[in-house]
Amino acid sequence: MEYLLEQIASYRKEIEGYQISNPQQLEEFRIKFLGTRGLTKSLFAEMKNVPNEKKKEFGQVLNDFKQFAEKKFEHAKASTGNNQSSDNEELDLSLPGDAIQIGARHPITLVRNRMVSIFQRLGFSIADGPEIEDDWHNFTALNLPENHPARDMQDTFYIHQKPDWLLRTHTSNVQIREMQKGKLPIRIICPGRVYRNETVSARSHCFFHQVEGLYIDENVSFADLKQTLYFFVKEMFGKDVKVRFRPSYFPFTEPSAEMDISCFICEGKGCRICKHTGWVEILGCGMVHPAVLENCSIDSNKYTGYAFGMGVERPALLLYDVNDIRLFSENDARFLKQFGSAV
Ligand code: DAH
Repeated sequence: MEYLLEQIASYRKEIEGYQISNPQQLEEFRIKFLGTRGLTKSLFAEMKNVPNEKKKEFGQVLNDFKQFAEKKFEHAKASTGNNQSSDNEELDLSLPGDAIQIGARHPITLVRNRMVSIFQRLGFSIADGPEIEDDWHNFTALNLPENHPARDMQDTFYIHQKPDWLLRTHTSNVQIREMQKGKLPIRIICPGRVYRNETVSARSHCFFHQVEGLYIDENVSFADLKQTLYFFVKEMFGKDVKVRFRPSYFPFTEPSAEMDISCFICEGKGCRICKHTGWVEILGCGMVHPAVLENCSIDSNKYTGYAFGMGVERPALLLYDVNDIRLFSENDARFLKQFGSAV
């Protein structure tokens, strides 16, 4: 019995000093101390040789020893990372690591950021508004009362439980929200997502993005609008791009215009992209209608302003030579990662 206790004490010492730094050493330890033919097992087998009155004492020492060995084993198992299987592959720290996939900015984000930063340099600040909007902010306040025919072009999705709520059809709702705040002058740029009840095809989608601009102050004129947009076009599409304004109609501006740029794919010669006209329409604009100012409690005798709104998808299609608008929202990483280095 004395001899056995001494042996247990020396095994304990051995376990204490046992170095386990890889799965192989862990397995060796297990076999030696805890295996079916290991030391613990053979010590238990000695029980039959221990006198009856000492059996209890010896059993306790032995159980303690077994727990001690098991603890050491569990601890080493966790720290060698070998806690799933007994496969004894060594960890090779010299192997090259798995490359971390770095995401890329979405092409729509890239184009939007470029647009916004050009206007920021001109002193415009960013304003934001809700995508779920009420009828008044999206239509009525913009001089588009119920049953106005111009609503036809902007059919959208309505919220069942709240028929007055809809998914905004343009970012022009942000104009109204900013004007309502009553702080003048206003010089804002509003990027955001908008929705229309459109059939999804290569050229149109039921959601897309716009960037809206609004400048309200005393003595703001159409000349200011043109000058600002000329600057924008040169910065965005290049110095040689030509610009033309066509008279148009929007209920919220008077006069209203649409702005085209010369097709920078064919340099105005005519191609599939510009439908052989040499021009590509990129935005709508005009002088804010006095009724819109008054709807937002702004004195239209004192203040004037201009506004414009443009889509992001179309310039993105042109700039990156993409031929299907649906690609922008399919989340196919093979498509999206091509724009990683684009700016
Ligand atoms: N909201 C118009 C649309 O979605 C675009 C637009 C045109 C915005 C003229 C304006 C503007 O601010 O002045 O078709």
